[in-house]
Amino acid sequence: MSSEEETRSSPPPSSSASSSSPPPASHFIGKKEDIVQARRVTKMLNGGRDILVLFHQGQLYAMDQRCYHSGGALQHGDIEEFNGRLCIVCPWHKYKITLAEGEGLYQAVDDPTAKPLRTQWRSKGVKQRIHKVTEVNGNVYVTLNDQ
Ligand code: FES
Repeated sequence: MSSEEETRSSPPPSSSASSSSPPPASHFIGKKEDIVQARRVTKMLNGGRDILVLFHQGQLYAMDQRCYHSGGALQHGDIEEFNGRLCIVCPWHKYKITLAEGEGLYQAVDDPTAKPLRTQWRSKGVKQRIHKVTEVNGNVYVTLNDQ
């Protein structure tokens, strides 16, 4: 699936009617089966918000496509676990961003004089904008986080 402009959310015409409906102000991203197969989908929403939706270990995640640091294309980043937390690793400068919260993780050195050096994973706090993903009847929607 390629990037494309998407305005108001609506399921494709072929979807069946249901009592479930997408969240208000959400944007239709695609069929879940297509996203699962593609693993990563990018989409431009609201005329300029580039969003990355990805499927990893049975879970859907959505975040701004561009890295908070300097705009790296996160859709090309590897997904790895650091300190028990799943992160996307920006392909540009290797910043680690948690998939679920958008926290920036880094390795801190508490005592630079200690031998050998001991490091700990720490959080810079939430740095990357994460968006809410909702699945309704096999259709995937994203509600933008405007914070
Ligand atoms: S642009 Fe992502 S780490 Fe620098």
